[in-house]
Amino acid sequence: MKNVEIKKPTLRDIIDIQSVLEPYVKEGVILKRDDDEVATNIRSYTLVYNEKKPVGVAALHVFSPFLGEIRSLAVDKDFQGKGLGKLLVDTLLKEAKELGLKEVLVLTYKREFFEKLGFIEIDKEAIPDKKIWADCIKCKFFPNCNEIALIKYL
Ligand SMILES: CC(C)(COP(=O)(O)OP(=O)(O)OC[C@H]1O[C@@H](n2cnc3c(N)ncnc32)[C@H](O)[C@@H]1OP(=O)(O)O)[C@@H](O)C(=O)NCCC(=O)NCCS
Repeated sequence: MKNVEIKKPTLRDIIDIQSVLEPYVKEGVILKRDDDEVATNIRSYTLVYNEKKPVGVAALHVFSPFLGEIRSLAVDKDFQGKGLGKLLVDTLLKEAKELGLKEVLVLTYKREFFEKLGFIEIDKEAIPDKKIWADCIKCKFFPNCNEIALIKYL
C-alpha cells in the first residue's frame, strides 16, 4: 500500500490509538483500555497512518524475560485486506526479537490470520496466570471466552 507510515506513538497520539480501537471495543473483540493504561504502556504500541489518518494499531506487551503478547491489534475496516495487519504483526515480532523475547502469545478469534504468520495454537491452560487475572477478568466474556491462544516461537 502507498502512503503508509508506521511509527512509535507518543502520548499525543493516544487519541489516534483509541480512535482505531473504538469500533472493536464496542463490538467486544478488543478489551477496552483507558487513556491512563495506554499512557503507561505507550512504548509498547505501534501505529500505522495512511495519509495522516490513523488506520492500524497493535501493542507488544512484555510479560517476562521470555514471553511477550500481542495486544490491541486492529485495522480500520476500510483498510483491511491490504496487508496492514501483517505489517503490524511483523513489526512487533521484529521488536520482540530485538528485545530478546523467545515467545509471543496472542489471544484471538482470528486463527487463520495468525497461523499464516507462523503462530501455532496452544492449550489455554498454558497461558500465564497473571495474564488471566490482570486482563481476562476485565472482559465481559470472562470466564466463558471463545478466544483461542496461539504462540510464535522466535
Ligand atoms: C485481524 C486484522 C488485524 C487483520 O488485518 P488485515 O490488515 O485485514 O490483514 P492483512 O491484510 O494483513 O492479511 C494478512 C493475511 O491474512 C489473511 N487474513 C486476514 N484476515 C483474515 C481472517 N479473518 N481470516 C483468514 N485470513 C485472514 C489475509 O487474507 C492475508 O493473507 P495473504 O497473505 O495470503 O494474502 C483485522 O481483520 C482486524 O482489525 N480485525 C478486527 C480486530 C481483531 O479481531 N483483531 C485481532 C485481535 S487479536
